[in-house]
Formats: sequence, C-alpha cells, structure tokens
Amino acid sequence: MTHNKKVKIALLASGSGTNAEKIIHYFKDSEISEVACVISNRQKAGVLERAQKAGVNHQVFSMQEFEATTPVLNYLQKQGVDIIVLAGFLLKLSPEIITAYPDKIINIHPALLPKYGGKGMYGHFVHEAVIKNRDQESGITIHLVNDEYDKGDIIFQTACPINPEMTPEQLAAKVQVLEHQHFPKVIEQFISDSIKGA
Ligand code: GAR
Repeated sequence: MTHNKKVKIALLASGSGTNAEKIIHYFKDSEISEVACVISNRQKAGVLERAQKAGVNHQVFSMQEFEATTPVLNYLQKQGVDIIVLAGFLLKLSPEIITAYPDKIINIHPALLPKYGGKGMYGHFVHEAVIKNRDQESGITIHLVNDEYDKGDIIFQTACPINPEMTPEQLAAKVQVLEHQHFPKVIEQFISDSIKGA
C-alpha cells in the first residue's frame, strides 16, 4: 500500500449497517484512510440509507453479480479500493475477489472463533447457539478472510462474560457494544501496520 495517498476502504454489508456507520464516522477525519464506498447484496439493507446519509458512494450487486465477480471487481477498481471490510456481509466472496485482495479483506464475527464459525453462523444464530451451550463467555473476532468461512488469521479478539439468565438478545447487545468500540480502531491499526510494512 502506498503511503502518499489515503488507503481506500470498501465496506461490504448485508444488513442494518451499525458497524459500517461507526467505521464511516471514525475515518471521516483520518489522515491515513477513508471509506470510498459501501457495497451491499440487498436492495433493502439499512446500511444503504446510512451510507446515503453520510454522503458515501453506495452500490448494490445481486448474488449473481457477486458470483460472476467481474462487475464487483470493476467497481472496486473504479473506486480505487485498497482494502475490503466485511461488516455483517453474509455472502461468501468468490475466490477471484479474495485473490485480487490478498490479506486485504477483514471480517468481523460476533463470537470467539474458532467456536461458532462456519456457514450459517451469523447474527442471532451465533448468539442463540452460545446461550444454548451455556458458555460462560462470548465476544468478537476480527480476522483476515481466506477461501474458508471464518478460518483466516485472527487479528483481534476480546471477550465478555455471560451470566446464566442472559438471553440471546441481551448477549447480542453486549457483543455489539464491543464491535462498535473496537472494530474501527482495529481497522486503523491494520492499515497503519500495512503502511509501515509497505
Ligand atoms: C455484526 O454483529 C457482525 O459481527 C455480524 O453481523 C452483524 C452486523 O451488524 N457478522 C456475522 O455474523 C458474520 N458471520 P450491523 O449490520 O449492525 O453492523
């Protein structure tokens, strides 16, 4: 990554986009990085409205377009994207996209991987499974994306305790606080480390 221009982030999200919004605001005044665009696979995803409000370019691609890959890659290149951040993005990225951005795709997972990862493990399904198993803690994992679901190198983890009466919704709220608190900073650290290593 060159250090004389800002590192451009593409945020990919399928849902409400609370994490995407925190990241957009965090990098508004950054000297090293900026959010270049928000991409979703769902026309009705709340993240699009958040991007619109924040004045960030946003684009929807269908599942077929994600599978075909070229429309998405062309858009990423046109926007000058250097790194991709998955913030609640629920499609598996094609090998072509992963190859085009080696070690430059970051995902957040709402549990302590390697537990509760893999296909179908997202959002409330994760928290329901954790509570059902009577685990005493959960947390967040931020990791690099490779071609296996939730198996890339872990960049950051932090845990929170679970009390015996906690519901999946209460756990989700607790985990979301951790996500909002840490995700933007971990991305910033990752970018500044890449700049130093460039
Ligand atoms: C976040 O909790 C994120 O960890 C999760 O989706 C949520 C998106 O919330 N991602 C996964 O479960 C990926 N397997 P948001 O739309 O409010 O940012």
